Amino acid sequence: MRNVNLFLLPLFVVALTSCNSIFRPYKCGPVLGRDDLEIFRLQADYLGLKPGVKFADIGSSSGYHDGAMAVSTEGVNYYLSDIDDHCLNEKNMKRMLKYFSRLKGADIESANPFRVITGTRTDPKLPNNSFDVIFMNATLHVLDQPDSVLSHIYIDLKPGGFFFVRDDMIYDGKTRLCDPKKCGHAVLQYKPFIQLMTRNGFLLVDTSHDFGHPIFKFSKT
Ligand SMILES: C[S@@+](CC[C@H](N)C(=O)[O-])C[C@H]1O[C@@H](n2cnc3c(N)ncnc32)[C@H](O)[C@@H]1O
Repeated sequence: MRNVNLFLLPLFVVALTSCNSIFRPYKCGPVLGRDDLEIFRLQADYLGLKPGVKFADIGSSSGYHDGAMAVSTEGVNYYLSDIDDHCLNEKNMKRMLKYFSRLKGADIESANPFRVITGTRTDPKLPNNSFDVIFMNATLHVLDQPDSVLSHIYIDLKPGGFFFVRDDMIYDGKTRLCDPKKCGHAVLQYKPFIQLMTRNGFLLVDTSHDFGHPIFKFSKT
């Protein structure tokens, strides 16, 4: 019996480290494994994250999505913006980057500078006319003042830049809420979504269905 307990001890430690929040390497967001990284490399390619690109993720939470993409990028300037400074702050970002640097086997930040910005409900507080790529993942549907946020994104995006929206989408006009326990907001409807983007000066130039939820690519009109 004693031997069996000793044998099980390592498994118990692994279970604790993976399930108990005390041992999570960073707050807010799934802790991804090495096997999860390939899809983020492909997504970074689709977003055009090449050396010299200035990139912003609005509603980034901890920035785990960006840390996972940065494992495969070099020379990209990452700006993370969120209104929730419990999840997005310097300390949590450093913990998140330390985790993904360990997966990469090299320091992520020395190859890709990261910056944290606390926005407001109406303004992500990014520098104007600065970004080649702006991204919003699973966030547009939670904004309470989307027109205001989008009007700032329009100003912050450089001419020739692209704004990517990844979100669940309804195409048949039926209403549905996203996971009622975690979210409770209405899932975006395609027609009103395109109307919202059009009235804020964005033109749909491509859609990818390769990354779970669709990714919509917009240019400035
Ligand atoms: C469902 S979470 C998605 C987080 C992250 N992008 C991800 O992929 O897991 C929505 C995020 O939007 C943020 N948010 C809500 N309103 C916002 C606003 N007006 N500007 C920026 N972020 C906002 C929330 O704080 C939250 O972190």
